[in-house]
Amino acid sequence: MARLSTAEKAALTTGADWWRTTALAEAGIPAVRLADGPHGLRLQNDAPNDAHHDAPNDAPNDAHHDHLGIGGSAPATCFPPAVTLACTWDSELAERVGGALARECLAHGVQVLLGPGVNIKRSPLCGRNFEYFSEDPLLSGALGAAWVNGLQAQGVGASVKHFAANNQETGRMSVSADIDVRTLREIYLPAFRRVVTEARPWTVMCAYNRVNGIHASQHPWLLTDVLRGEWGYDGVVVSDWGAVVDRVRALAAGLDLEMPSSSGAGPARVVAAVESGELDEETLDRSAARVAALARKAAACTRLDAAFDPAAHHDLAREVAARGAVLLKNDRGVLPLDPSAPQRIAVIGEFARTPRYQGEGSSRVTPTRLDDALTAITDAAPASQVTFAPGFPVDAPETDASPLREEAVRAARTAHVAVLFLGLPPSHEAEGYDRDHLELPPEQTQLLDAVVAANPNTVVVLAGGGVVRLAGWIDDVPAVLACWLSGQAGGSATADLLFGRANPSGRLAETVPLRLADTPAYLAWPGENGHVAYGEGLFVGYRHYDARDLDVSFPFGHGLSYTTFDYADLRTAHDSEGFDVTVAVTNTGERAGHEVVQVYVAAPGSRVRRPVRELKGFATVRLAPGQTRDVTVRITRADLAYFDTAADAWLVEGLDHRIDVGASSRDIRLTTTVAVEGDDRTALPDAESTLAEWLAHPVGGPAVEVLLSRVRAAMGEAYPEEGSSRHRMVAGLRLSQLAQLPVVPLGHDDVRELVEAVRSAAGAGGRGTC
Ligand code: BGC
Repeated sequence: MARLSTAEKAALTTGADWWRTTALAEAGIPAVRLADGPHGLRLQNDAPNDAHHDAPNDAPNDAHHDHLGIGGSAPATCFPPAVTLACTWDSELAERVGGALARECLAHGVQVLLGPGVNIKRSPLCGRNFEYFSEDPLLSGALGAAWVNGLQAQGVGASVKHFAANNQETGRMSVSADIDVRTLREIYLPAFRRVVTEARPWTVMCAYNRVNGIHASQHPWLLTDVLRGEWGYDGVVVSDWGAVVDRVRALAAGLDLEMPSSSGAGPARVVAAVESGELDEETLDRSAARVAALARKAAACTRLDAAFDPAAHHDLAREVAARGAVLLKNDRGVLPLDPSAPQRIAVIGEFARTPRYQGEGSSRVTPTRLDDALTAITDAAPASQVTFAPGFPVDAPETDASPLREEAVRAARTAHVAVLFLGLPPSHEAEGYDRDHLELPPEQTQLLDAVVAANPNTVVVLAGGGVVRLAGWIDDVPAVLACWLSGQAGGSATADLLFGRANPSGRLAETVPLRLADTPAYLAWPGENGHVAYGEGLFVGYRHYDARDLDVSFPFGHGLSYTTFDYADLRTAHDSEGFDVTVAVTNTGERAGHEVVQVYVAAPGSRVRRPVRELKGFATVRLAPGQTRDVTVRITRADLAYFDTAADAWLVEGLDHRIDVGASSRDIRLTTTVAVEGDDRTALPDAESTLAEWLAHPVGGPAVEVLLSRVRAAMGEAYPEEGSSRHRMVAGLRLSQLAQLPVVPLGHDDVRELVEAVRSAAGAGGRGTC
């Protein structure tokens, strides 16, 4: 850095164009080429194979470049987006997808792929939920970390995004996500923490929105105190595209790299700020050095001979699509269909012919090929007679749907089985805006009613990047298979599942609520006057439905299989760092299949409000018919902690924690209890703490009792009786307030002495931890 001018360093910390950082050839610092992400490579380039990005600042051609997925891109494998990958609950599979994506990046000379997105699905209305994993932080973090590990093991950097609290698209460029500290710590930050600490992503991308009033792009607490100070991050923090508001404040807060190019404005402002003394040059040096280190690392990983096998990647996309589909319902074993039976199959719904396989926006990939379910079903069942009817128009509300509906009814009436492809039209969900409701379009529900009336043996295959309301119609059909957005091979995967070549094993990564009004953020969504209050706090997803004891259509973690699994022999084995939970799982059916063993923990009797149960670990196991295997899930002591706002620290409570092991958050098969020793760190009460807080404190309680016994002795009869309403009122007074009351023989000196005595007994210096 010492050899570089201020202007050169400022240039390093900004993009050269849409997708490249600035190169400084004389200093030996190449450009870094970045691209979207996350479920496939969206390479916007005039010459897709001009892999040799270390040429300084190749002439940019921004005409075809954008961050909204509008311009075209080179063909690449379109893997199922995160919504589907999440439902596999399979970290190993996520890692393999990361590895495949890296091979495609290397072959195209892309050094950083912009993903994964690990934001929490706070509301099913978020238009970008298809790009995120789950309503649960543990599942999001585990899959995100595995994906990054897979990608980076091949020498391509990740950009975990959007840091932080980007949970809605409405007002995404400016809305302030107003979140209390405990909720941020326990719900919205853990997935990022896990990815950062376990997978060390080369870059972290900040969000567009504000967090508690401060733009995420210039948030010192997020970008420096937490990310670097607490989590030890040493990579590059990059802006979301165009997220920088004030380049100097952003740099000072820890945002190293502004993307894309700001056409010289950012660097000019930085140089002026250094010259005027507004910005410390060391701050610029630090960020420039991080970008330079990234560029060198990326260049060292470049492989000019890199290639990938598109057919193998298509197969992997098919495997993920099959593994991520969730069989929500399967009455009378209507599925799987028999591929060898000579039967009439009515395939109904435009999505069978024109798949909905990915979402709109910056993640949009041009697939290398595209399988449709209609062709795949026809091929899979050569003995059957397959008829097709589109059934409804897509995204054409003005069109009269009745002729299409009548044609579909005719097809259904004469069929042995109707397979009805429904789902969210593309216009319902996209980056940049949110959904208005959870309903399928009326032309689809009308079609469903008509088809079911004509043929009750109707199987629904659902597409969409988010959940839809099922409550109005699911009782009318025997089987529903949710395929989400299933990537370029989704059509084949759907046929694999329908005919039993693959056994459904997806489990819901988000709850399917009965109605929108039941959802956690319903009353606050999407905020007003530039603020959205996260008033539901920790109670997001199943934490909300469980705490309020609400019925749901399908709970978090639910998913059926063509086989069944039995759980037995739950054991725990402790060591100083945590404990292993082991359960024997048996495949009691006739087909091989995957089971997802879910381990939830509850802390009944906690001193703070806790969810009914929280996912703390999971494991996916494949079992042959009749096979039994011990499945072990590791729970660390840190997993049991809650964030104590008074202590400003994570605390483990000395409690008997309940371990619930099950096949979903509401299908708990076995339960046990583990005794956990608490941390000896609790916030110390002070003069402003209430008497009740003093009494509840392990050190403060006995100390204040000594004082109270003096008061009791002095006041005699006038002292409120234990358990009386007056006693309860007094317990709510601050200690200093109590000392002020004329009837109480207690002075401020007594309080001061008590506070000091407790501090020294606890060995700490103030309201904080001991
Ligand atoms: C999106 C990011 C994306 C970037 C680059 C932004 O609009 O929010 O997720 O990586 O554009 O295309």
